[in-house]
Parts: sequence; structure tokens; C-alpha cells
Amino acid sequence: MQTYRPRRSVLYIPASNDRALAKLATLACDAVIIDLEDAVPPADKVAVREKLAGILTERPNRRCEMIVRVNALGTEWGIDDVLAAAKGEADILLSKVVTPREVLEAGDLLDDNFAPDTVKLWAMVETPRALLNIGALAELGRDPASRFTCFVAGTNDLVKETGVLATPDQRYLMPWLMQLVLAARAGGLDVLDGVFNDFRDADGFARECVEAAAMGFDGKSLIHPAQIEAANRAFAPAPEALAQARAVKAAFALPENAGKGVIALDGKMVERLHLAQAEKLLAKAAAIGA
Ligand code: COA
Ligand code: MG
Repeated sequence: MQTYRPRRSVLYIPASNDRALAKLATLACDAVIIDLEDAVPPADKVAVREKLAGILTERPNRRCEMIVRVNALGTEWGIDDVLAAAKGEADILLSKVVTPREVLEAGDLLDDNFAPDTVKLWAMVETPRALLNIGALAELGRDPASRFTCFVAGTNDLVKETGVLATPDQRYLMPWLMQLVLAARAGGLDVLDGVFNDFRDADGFARECVEAAAMGFDGKSLIHPAQIEAANRAFAPAPEALAQARAVKAAFALPENAGKGVIALDGKMVERLHLAQAEKLLAKAAAIGA
């Protein structure tokens, strides 16, 4: 079985924001995305990229996974961004992806530059074309040589590109987000929900995390440290779900149930597929120390 890598809380930090970067060591998020793209103005992009090397070597927070969001490969910065991130052995989040070609190109670039296999590719899904090509993009996940490992919903860009109204319940984005989750599962990829802009609204944020977890997302992309705790909580297995998983495991372990495909537990049908689901949940809880 594939080992579970928690990506409940994935915080963007603009690579140009030294005060925010200085917080890195103290953050309890599962991952950070150091952003070279939209959070960094064009005039600063080159200087900021040069600084990135130092941040990646330092790795002030060892338990936190590090990803670098790069400018689109077609821009004047894209290729050098990818090479800088790879040199620091960080994963690379490709922005404005529209077809599988960009992921393949980034993979070739990494291979040609002898980047270690541990350097993986992530993709922002933030354009109508990416959504229309989502099946083909997900298919790449089935080939380990593609290095492709995670989708990140770019909901602000999707709202901008499509003209849908951004509502608190995300009702107009919902069909696309569900399609994204489905594609991720088809491709064996992780998938993260988009950001919640109103970082002072803790209740609204917590609600959106619970919703995203119910929708099947592995975690949420974050913009502010105040959002970490609620995301960690929402995407961790709930205590009741863990208790049920333990009960299912114990029931199938009973000698009288050995070899049975389906059993009754507290008046409900439980199949072997529920055992697999329970074991996955328990492994996830163990990985995050829940
Ligand atoms: N990562 C790490 N630390 C952060 C942070 C982040 N994303 N956002 C804020 N902080 C730090 C601040 O530096 C501040 O610490 P300080 O007092 O030592 O400077 C502390 O948390 C409190 O910040 P606060 O004053 O509440 O917010 P702010 O006005 O400084 O910043 C934003 C607000 C939205 C500008 C900032 O959170 C941010 O830039 N977020 C990321 C945006 C981004 O990357 N967008 C692109 C992807 S969508
Ligand atoms: Mg974007």
C-alpha cells in the first residue's frame, strides 16, 4: 500500500515576503508553497528566485513539505524557476496549466537536468481549458515517470476566467470542483481545495474546510497562518470515523468471520471493501498522529 503523506494544510508564502518566510520554522502546516508566481511582481521575480536557493537549503521546518509555485513555462521566468526549485529538491507547482503537454515538458526539463526522482510535479487547475482537459491531465498520474502527484484548485482564477459569482457556498464552482476530485482519484493523485480569501473569518473558513473534506479533497490551500489549525482538524479523520474503523477491523479479525466477504456489525452490513477503507483511514490517522 502507498504510504500516506498528509497534505491537510498547504500554506502559500510569497517568496518576496521575508517576514512571512521568517515564520516558516514555527508553522504547523503539512506543506508550504513558496510562491514565485502571482504573489511576486514582475520587477522582483529574478531577485526573489535567487533568494529561493537559500530558503530551500536552509529548510527551517523539516516536517513541512516544501513546494515552489513557478511561473508558467511559457513566460520568461518559467524554465529558470523550475530549475531553481529542482536544485533545491522541492516539488514544483506548475501554474496556469492547460494541457498535459506542460506537465510533460516540465518533466522532460527535470529529467534532462538530472533532477532526483523525488522532485514531483503539481498542477494548478485554474483555467477553463484545464478543467476541460482534466481527464487527460489526471491520466498522467498513472505513469510514475511523469512525476505528477497533485492537483491544486485555483478558485480565484476560475472565478475570474469564467465569470461565475463567488458565493459563500461555492455553488457555481461546485460541479467543477467535484469533477476535479473525481479526476484526481482516477489518476491516483492528491487534490487540494482553493484558498479562502477572507482570512479574518475563522468560522466561514472552518465551514469551507469541513465541506471540502466531505467533497473528498485531501486538504486545502491556505493564505494565512491563522488558517492552519482548522484545516488540520477538518482533514484529519474524525474521532467517530476512527472508532468505526477500529470496530470494522476488529470484527473482521474475529475467528468466526475469517474468510467472510460480508458481515453484520451493529445491525449494518459491512463488506471487505469497508475493511480496506477502515485500514486506509487508520493508516492516515497513524501518519498524522491522530
Ligand atoms: N505565510 C507565513 N506568514 C504569514 C503569511 C503567510 N502566508 N501571511 C501572513 N503571515 C504573517 C505575517 O507576516 C504576520 O507576521 P509579522 O507580524 O511577523 O509580520 C502575521 O502572519 C500576521 O499577518 P497579518 O498582519 O494578519 O496579515 P498581513 O496583512 O501581513 O498579510 C496577506 C495578509 C493576505 C497579504 C498575507 O497573508 C499573504 O500574503 N498571504 C499569501 C498570499 C499568496 O501567497 N497568494 C498567492 C496564492 S493565492
Ligand atoms: Mg492563480
